[in-house]
Amino acid sequence: MKNFANKSINDQLTVIGNSFYPCYLIQGSRKNLLIDSGVNVIAPVYTRLLDEALGNKNRLDYLFLTHSHYDHVGSSTYIKRLIPALKIGAHERIAPLLQKESALTMMNNLSEAQRSRFIGITGNEDVRIAPITVDITFREGDAIDLGGLTCRVYEVPGHTRDSLAYYIPEIGALFSGEAAGVAEGKERREPHVEFLASYDDYLASLEKMISLNPQILCAAHGGVLMGDDATDFLRRSYAATPVYRRLIEQYLAEAAGDIPRAIEMMVREEYDRKGVTAQERNAYITNLTAQVKHIAGLR
Ligand SMILES: [Fe+2]
Repeated sequence: MKNFANKSINDQLTVIGNSFYPCYLIQGSRKNLLIDSGVNVIAPVYTRLLDEALGNKNRLDYLFLTHSHYDHVGSSTYIKRLIPALKIGAHERIAPLLQKESALTMMNNLSEAQRSRFIGITGNEDVRIAPITVDITFREGDAIDLGGLTCRVYEVPGHTRDSLAYYIPEIGALFSGEAAGVAEGKERREPHVEFLASYDDYLASLEKMISLNPQILCAAHGGVLMGDDATDFLRRSYAATPVYRRLIEQYLAEAAGDIPRAIEMMVREEYDRKGVTAQERNAYITNLTAQVKHIAGLR
């Protein structure tokens, strides 16, 4: 969790934050765009690094969100407070959710579990997620001109119904959000499967992203994959998806269809014992619960 520094991938692309909670800064000749706002508990890091990268954080024009999870929209409130002219873009489904008190409370509770780890960063600053206004709502096929770079919008449901991927063809860079899964394992190279909303849509979304054949994959967590590794990760993520479904089905069978029991067994064996998943435990359980319920419903 150290290493809060800007990491330049090329002249136009910079990782802001750290590799586990990254935001991605894209600098066009006319507009600057940040993809995702990470977690709220390190919000001041992002704005400090934006100042460093842009000379002045107020040169940031856009913040586009990949999906509605607390570790991807988390610092939006804080960043918008410091950069009032910022325009926030997201899937049209997200707009009402980011105004909903119950959804924001759940997000604040999830991130609160990690606050103590970053207390040196936030101090007494107010980083709570408060209602966020989405200025630009996206659909498949939308494109935003940044000057020399185009940000193309793809709907990639399956992880969440509001998941978007952004692709910049001029530099072959894909910002997949969690629609491509999350790298785990000792080398952080194995894709952890992340369908929460729909198994079928998750696979179809991976196919869509594979067809773009990206040369740079800016992942939701775990860093940036370059060259052949980018599409290779997407392909392996696709292959891992039915395998993970079968694993869930095995646990469900072992638990005689008892969903809470299957979840409990999986947490103990797959998370606690194997210890290869970097995701925070409560967030892992929240996601796993959605996955097991979804697969149980498909049987
Ligand atoms: Fe995430």
